[in-house]
Amino acid sequence: MAATGIVRVLVTRQIQEEALEYVRKQVPNVELQVHPDEHQSPARSELEAWLERGVDGLVCVIGDVIDEALLTHDTQGRLRVVSTMSVGYNHIDVESCRQRGIAVGHTPDVLTETTADLAVGLAIATARRFREALQAVEQPGGWKSSWSPTWMCGTDVHGATVGIIGLGRIGVAVARRLHHGFGCRILYHGTREKPVVAAEIGQARFCADLGELLAESDFVIPLCPLTQKTRNLINASSLRLMKKSAFLINVSRGEIVDQDAVCDALEAEALAGYGTDVTVPEPIPTDHRLLKTRGVTVLPHIGSATLQTRLAMARLCVENLVAGVKGDPLPHPVPL
Ligand code: DGY
Repeated sequence: MAATGIVRVLVTRQIQEEALEYVRKQVPNVELQVHPDEHQSPARSELEAWLERGVDGLVCVIGDVIDEALLTHDTQGRLRVVSTMSVGYNHIDVESCRQRGIAVGHTPDVLTETTADLAVGLAIATARRFREALQAVEQPGGWKSSWSPTWMCGTDVHGATVGIIGLGRIGVAVARRLHHGFGCRILYHGTREKPVVAAEIGQARFCADLGELLAESDFVIPLCPLTQKTRNLINASSLRLMKKSAFLINVSRGEIVDQDAVCDALEAEALAGYGTDVTVPEPIPTDHRLLKTRGVTVLPHIGSATLQTRLAMARLCVENLVAGVKGDPLPHPVPL
């Protein structure tokens, strides 16, 4: 906080008014600068200039890269908290923040069920060929007769074997839906076995060896955070282990999957389909190879995008912000 007692907060996107109102109430001496755009954050140079002028709290979203180079612009050492309106925090250099005594907050739990809904929806959309089906309806002559015996046949999701990589909050929520709702058999891979959770989702089987999970699954769903270890986790060699009839479904981060390797596998008919809510880059250019490849369904990173969930995320995000600028422990901290 500056000697004037003013608390300066920069919010890089337009977020829900209710959340901003909460900040104004909780921090009456706040000077709140909200970037007036829902789709674009301030340019990097503007962010740098803001830090140089001095901000106590920063609210950001997943497109904002908060790295050491940016933090060096906090020349007054004034920044106390970075609060991201997301559960993922791979866009923040958490270690640099820790070293500088900057708290980092995120929005876990509130988006778990919504994202799990989307993962299941995307699995169905991909396996049942929604993209092609919608195109056929909209193109003149695309839908030729009311019902055709072998036309537009996809693959069943019910009863399938589903391999979940990373049985965290969202992994469990997806597994629960697919086991209890669709009768799927669940395999999972992760850093450790989770017998209690696994029992709740139908005796889900732990595969210590990722290769075993890949080889047995009809649907492979990575639900792990993006780290150095998980970047390109699904690559040409892992794809070779998968069944030719299998589907890959991604609602975590685009970087977990080598997109070119996926396109190669789909073109070679060594993979049946790729449904993804996340891409590299985002937004993906409309002439990108991924969009031209058979069997691909791409959504524009909308896993948590429901009115209820985005409001809940905004609330958590400003709770973290307020605690941070007051110097209190964050209610939803990123482990530093
Ligand atoms: C997150 O929160 O990390 C999602 O990717 C966006 O909702």
